[in-house]
Amino acid sequence: AGTTADAATTEGPPTLPTDRRTGCPFDPPTGLTAPSDEPLRRMRCADGHIGWLVTGHAAARAVLSDPRFSSRYELLHPPIPMPGLPEQLPPAPVGDIIGLDAPEHTRYRRLLTGKFTVRRMRRLTERVQHFTAECLDAMEQAGPTADLVAAFAQPVPALMICELLGVPYADRERFQSQVAALFDQTAEVEAKGDAYTALSHYLNELVLAKRAEPTDDLLSDLTTSDLTDEELAGIGGLLLAAGLDTTANMLGLGTFALLSNPDQLDALRADPALAGQTVEELLRYLSVADPIPRAALEDVEVEGRLIRTGETVTVSVQAANRDPRRFPDPDRLDLHRGATGHLAFGHGAHQCLGQQLARVEMTVAFPALFARFPTLRLAVPPQEVPLRDRSNIYGVISLPVTWDKE
Ligand code: HEM
Repeated sequence: AGTTADAATTEGPPTLPTDRRTGCPFDPPTGLTAPSDEPLRRMRCADGHIGWLVTGHAAARAVLSDPRFSSRYELLHPPIPMPGLPEQLPPAPVGDIIGLDAPEHTRYRRLLTGKFTVRRMRRLTERVQHFTAECLDAMEQAGPTADLVAAFAQPVPALMICELLGVPYADRERFQSQVAALFDQTAEVEAKGDAYTALSHYLNELVLAKRAEPTDDLLSDLTTSDLTDEELAGIGGLLLAAGLDTTANMLGLGTFALLSNPDQLDALRADPALAGQTVEELLRYLSVADPIPRAALEDVEVEGRLIRTGETVTVSVQAANRDPRRFPDPDRLDLHRGATGHLAFGHGAHQCLGQQLARVEMTVAFPALFARFPTLRLAVPPQEVPLRDRSNIYGVISLPVTWDKE
């Protein structure tokens, strides 16, 4: 440790470790581990608030399943600085149920859960297969090099969200370019603001169109509920925000991780039935959506430590998913470990609503990609792959790949 780090610690507890510049791009930032004797410790938030950092698996589950910890944005102290956002967060915008507590949250959640039906998931599986093949065709024709993010990891989940929301074909290009601008880590705050406004406007139009002429999709289905137009557009925005960047980065970073672990990739190639387990292990190993903050509504004891009313608790699911007490040899990518019980989709009342869809997308996409390109490999040295280390969803900005033409 250098003198700067020492000076910082004398001012109080350290901030959330975020430095990934050393070592393996798939491992949590340096210092973000779960020591067996300290599953939670004090942490300084971006605004100076002294809260808690949870890194142990059992402690993370305890916090995320306890209704005495609130998700309301206005009660949270942001764990890391968020450019473009005020220091004091406003309450969740209409439709953003991630930032609500019971009973408001429960009402929306019930309505939405009822719309992710088995029939809809089955239909979406067919559509994922179709879109995956289409993207791979285009990639193959333009090859033998590609940016896997732009050619595959981004469009497949984007098309799936279009399908879920019933975005008409004619609008898909416009919709996708607005979405890409919104999630571009390198874009200026102002450009992102413009993309956000354009998308909100589009979602409002879409809701009106579905009310006038319902089609076979989730948004049309929801128009028969008692939700207002504003709520429907907000929910559309939530599904987009929660479902796209997460899945896209799992596909991009997941491909990078498999290419970097050839023995594991060979195992998947030899046995495509391993796809389900591959997806679970990649979810655990990469944990791209991290951290998950909560605020204590009253004094709560967790693993012998007293969390006081109003304190922010930053749950690091990537650290919890590497807790050696829950996952032996946690830093090893091991497709055969049977990685159930990971927290990559969160836990408790807010556990990911789209997890079935995300699993379907990944279970179809990874084997299809590696079957189409048996010689797929990185086109640059691994240390030159640009990482998304300034975003709340971790991943790769681009993934240059190449393959041998048949
Ligand atoms: C919630 C991760 C894909 C929709 C969450 C949460 C996590 C997560 C960690 C919990 C947040 C919290 O507790 O504060 C992921 C990952 C994905 C993924 C890693 C991809 C691999 C999707 C998809 C959709 C989706 C495809 C929609 C189509 C949602 C929604 C919530 C949520 C609506 C909020 C649920 C609630 O607050 O009750 N997700 N997600 N997610 N996710 Fe996902």
